[in-house]
Amino acid sequence: MTYKKNILITGGAGFIGSHVVRLFVNKYPNYRIVNLDKLTYAGNLKNLTDIEKKDNYTFVKGDICELDDMIALFETYDIDGVIHLAAESHVDRSIKDPFTFARTNVMGTLALLQAAKIKWGGNFSGKRFYHISTDEVYGALAFDGTMFAETTKYDPHSPYSASKASSDHFVRSYHDTYGLPTVVSNCSNNYGPYQFPEKLIPLFINNIRHGKPLPVYGKGENVRDWLYVEDHARAIDLIFHEGKTGETYNIGGFNEWKNIDLIKVMIQTADRILGNPEGTSDKLITYVTDRAGHDLRYAIDASKLNRELGWEPSLQFEEGIEKTIRWYLEHQEWMDEVTSGEYQNYYENTYSNR
Ligand code: NAD
Ligand code: DAU
Repeated sequence: MTYKKNILITGGAGFIGSHVVRLFVNKYPNYRIVNLDKLTYAGNLKNLTDIEKKDNYTFVKGDICELDDMIALFETYDIDGVIHLAAESHVDRSIKDPFTFARTNVMGTLALLQAAKIKWGGNFSGKRFYHISTDEVYGALAFDGTMFAETTKYDPHSPYSASKASSDHFVRSYHDTYGLPTVVSNCSNNYGPYQFPEKLIPLFINNIRHGKPLPVYGKGENVRDWLYVEDHARAIDLIFHEGKTGETYNIGGFNEWKNIDLIKVMIQTADRILGNPEGTSDKLITYVTDRAGHDLRYAIDASKLNRELGWEPSLQFEEGIEKTIRWYLEHQEWMDEVTSGEYQNYYENTYSNR
């Protein structure tokens, strides 16, 4: 079959990537979706069992840092669009192991840009390289009502955000220097199904379920803006198709929460769903040493995306968090396979024999 577009989605076995892959595979049967993922600890093909047999879906295990492999991939699948999500994504890990973040997020993005430049050979008509980034590149805000705009100066603090900032700069440099048709978006904290339980929300839901301590960094006063992951995926779809080349779009939920307040909502909701008497899990809150360099507050102004492309979050936070907590509690098998490491056998057991 000839496809209208051949789209490479990197990091499609991860949290956000799996939602983007699912959306594109289902919504665009006339596109071939190639999911390229290294399957690091964060890659889980069990996130995609519902679409893995669809004709327009192909999984390729590979590393974005391997330039020759990326060039071969572009050639094999005649790639004309890239949605680049593959990355090391966890701030705490970046503090312990910054080199892996520089390799994947900086050198990997550079290899992918170079592969696109080489294979598209200066004929960029109908081509698009879309880089997914984070609000963390903008630094930290005070409690003063200000927000990050697309024009806010970059000021990354963690090795993770420094690596993402560097990759964003490389993407823009390929646009400005070689004319590569790039677009970038910077999004706030995502939440929803299939997130690796090292991140606040799935970790805490799982710990509540098992009566384990909830490690609150510092005083729990840091503020994050939360967006339901499917709303991010919808924004990515829109920007991929309608965003202006060379532009940057901020994506966010207009939904700021102090960590401790969010944690209390999670406890209340989970206790109710689990049938525990109110207040049962309050005792699990444990204040621990703060994250080094912990950014105080993030808040993203996503009004450009609303104004220019008509996007807005579809889900109210109360609805989204209830849905998310229910999902994790009802998908204990998914969580158990992740926490036991069993999920990592799925590729060998299933894909390598195909
Ligand atoms: P994730 O950690 O859940 O998934 C990352 C995926 O990338 C995994 O499947 C992993 O196997 C893959 N990967 C890692 N290194 C690779 C390599 N060298 N080659 C190929 N694949 C590799 O991450 P996520 O939370 O889904 O984030 C996806 C993207 O969105 C990242 O670029 C992240 O910076 C960005 N982002 C995340 C959030 C968030 O709240 N999670 C918010 C804004 C932006
Ligand atoms: O803002 C977008 C970013 O959001 C993405 O770019 C990152 O990939 C993503 O991981 C996320 O980064 P955060 O560091 O904000 O997410 P995390 O879930 O790790 O932490 C959320 C907040 O909760 C943060 O203030 C730290 C705090 N926290 C986190 C953990 C894991 C705790 O208090 N205790 C914890 O155990």
